[in-house]
This record gives sequence, C-alpha cells and structure tokens, in this order.
Amino acid sequence: MLKGKHIVLGITGGIAAYKSVSLLRLLVKAGAEVQVIITPNGKEFITPVTLSALSGRPVISEFFTANTGQWNSHVDLGLWADAMVIAPATASTIAKMANGVADNMLITSYLSARSQVFVAPAMDLDMMSHPSTTCNIDKLRSYGNIIIEPAAGELASHLVGKGRMEEPENIFKILEDYFRRHATLTGKKVLVTAGPTYEKIDPVRFIGNYSSGKMGYAIAEEAAARGAHVTLVSGPVAIKTTNPDIEVINVESAKEMLEACRQHFDDTDIAIMTAAVADYAPAECAEVKIKREKREDTPVLKLVKNPDIAATLGAMKRNDQTMVGFALETDNEQANAEDKLQRKNLDYIVLNSLREPGTCFGTDNNKVSIFSRDGHRSDFGIKPKSAVAADILDIITSDNIQSLKSE
Ligand code: C5P
Repeated sequence: MLKGKHIVLGITGGIAAYKSVSLLRLLVKAGAEVQVIITPNGKEFITPVTLSALSGRPVISEFFTANTGQWNSHVDLGLWADAMVIAPATASTIAKMANGVADNMLITSYLSARSQVFVAPAMDLDMMSHPSTTCNIDKLRSYGNIIIEPAAGELASHLVGKGRMEEPENIFKILEDYFRRHATLTGKKVLVTAGPTYEKIDPVRFIGNYSSGKMGYAIAEEAAARGAHVTLVSGPVAIKTTNPDIEVINVESAKEMLEACRQHFDDTDIAIMTAAVADYAPAECAEVKIKREKREDTPVLKLVKNPDIAATLGAMKRNDQTMVGFALETDNEQANAEDKLQRKNLDYIVLNSLREPGTCFGTDNNKVSIFSRDGHRSDFGIKPKSAVAADILDIITSDNIQSLKSE
C-alpha cells in the first residue's frame, strides 16, 4: 500500500524521537519515499545523519541550507506529500500547529500540507492531560488531522501514565490502513443527501425535523477520504465541510433536493440517501406572513405528498450503480427496513432505531444494522457516526470487490 507514496515524517524534540528511526525504516522498507523534517530541538535527540542515511534523502531542518544558501520550500513539500506524520509530536509542536506559529520548517510545511496529517503525541502524563494540550489536540482534530493516541505506560520521567508515543509498528499499520482505505473509492463519484428539508408555510415558517446532518456529512467525509469525489446535497444544517473533495449543494425543500440529485445521478457510482426528507409539504406557501390578528378562524394547513427522492432515483438506477438508503423506525424495524429496500429499489438499507438512547437525531453516535438486497444482515454496536460511516462504506466496497471477483 505504501509503495511509491510520498511521506513527510516530522520529528520533534522528545525522547520518543529514537522510535521514529524504526518508523522510518518500516516506511522505507515498504517502498515509501520519506522526507524527514526535524525541528531544531529534535536534533538534540537524534542525528540527521542517521535519518538521511536511512531515508536516502538529506534531512531538512532549517529554512535555508547553511553552506549553499539553498531555500527549502515548505510549499513544495506540502504539495509533494501524500501523507504527513509527526511522530513524536511534543506539546510545544502541537501548540504551534494548533495556532499557526510558523517559526520552523516543520510548522510551515504542516501549514502548507494538503494531504492527511497524522499526529502522534508523546509527552509526560501531566503535560498530556493539561487543558492547554487537550484543547490544542481538539483543535488539530477539528482541522481534520488524525491523532494517534499515545499509550499508557512508564514514561521517560519514570512516572506511569498516558503519554508514550504509539509504537512505530502500530503507526505504520495506521498509515497502511489509511492508504488501503483511501484507494477503495479512487475515481468513484459518490452522491450523498443529508440533513432535513424545510417545507415553507409562509416567508418565515416551515415544516422541518430534528435531523442534524451529522450522519450524511460523516459519510461524505469518509467517502472523500477513500478517494471519491463527493457531491453532498444538503438540507439546512449547522455543520460545514471544508474538504476540497466534497462539493456541497445547499438546498431547502424536498423538491430542490430531488432536482439537485437528478442532475448528478447519471454521473454517480454510489448514492447514499441519509437525508430526513419531509414526507409532506404545505400545498401552498403564503406570499406574506400569516398573521393571527388578521384572522378570526384557526388556519388549517393543507399538505401534499413530497416526492420520494430515493424511490425516484431507485427507479432510474442502472446495474453499475449502487444505492443505499436509511430507515429510521420505531416498530417492526427489520420488516419495515426490508420493505423499503425493495420498494425503493435500493441495494442496501441502514436501519437505525429511535429506541436506542443517545443515538440518531442530533447526537454524535449511532447504532445501525445494514441489510443487503441479497439477504445479508450486519449488526453493529453504538459508535461515533464517523465509524458508522466507515462500516457502511466497508460493506459496500467489499461486496463490490466480491461481486467483481465472481463475475
Ligand atoms: O420512507 P422513509 O422516509 O422511511 O425512507 C427513508 C429513506 O428514503 C432514506 O434513505 C431517505 O433519505 C429516503 N427518502 C427520500 N425521499 C423522501 C423520503 C425518504 O429520499 N421523500
């Protein structure tokens, strides 16, 4: 998986820097091209000579190479990298990354990196649990960086606690896994619907629902991380994505959502319908605000059926397209889910139950069962929506691989 991949390995000034030598060896052995960037403090722990000998490239530390005056371009490195790994990442480097303090070559390269960044913190247990560090790590997560959690154990200080850098073999596996997943949807086009729809009653009121869009956005992010180009047709939600591989089309009503989906469906390999589309819309939208003072009677809202987006696309589906729907059920869960799978001509349906406390609408977790058209059922425990997204894509892509093999 790592053959020919360009990896920037950032090494900072922590005792765990000696472990980075093993990580470097593993990466090089797997065929990766590794460019080491070491911070000035990192050089106190491990010599650039060892690192350049193992990587086969001069190690970069300064903005300029002292004897030649050659400028080391952090922008070029940022564009060159398929992944960047900072291991070990000290509290100071994490703070600089979190706040854009670009005072060394590693941080400028980090700020220029367009690839996925992995951060393996290593520090003393009290530094690790300090609110300043946890806040900075949370910031890095919010930038989309992957934190490779440190393990608990004996630290350089001889204190015992969380702060040991993850072992090089495990960091290597995380990278391998990333590139394996990354490849599964390379070149594929994925269409995702997310969030609620708003159906206008008058210029200031609407019929809506509690959907936060978190599940659909998590699927969009995961599909993009696996190499897909994603079109995310989103109802009104409070969340955002800045992922360059996700094109967001903001819509409000079910009709607008259907129109956007129709336009893209022909060019879609996989469509995943997570939106909580309103089943009914007001028959008419009042042109001006409906005012209580102006009416003697209580208004009666006449509703009309909205289009079923999943069923409409399901009827258009070609054999080379895969469609996934969601079912949110309160009773007869399996039967209702399977009925939807058939009725809407889906290939998979993801069942989530409103009976499960702490899951579904608005929460960060979900608990799902996935049913396939060929009668398979897979049950999963409660997990973050990002992990549920990975499970859904794992099932679809592994089934696709299997069916390709059997053809
Ligand atoms: O029929 P129900 O709303 O339970 O179906 C759920 C599935 O169908 C979800 O995947 C949802 O996104 C999709 N759906 C749709 N358009 C509708 C209603 C549901 O795409 N009008």
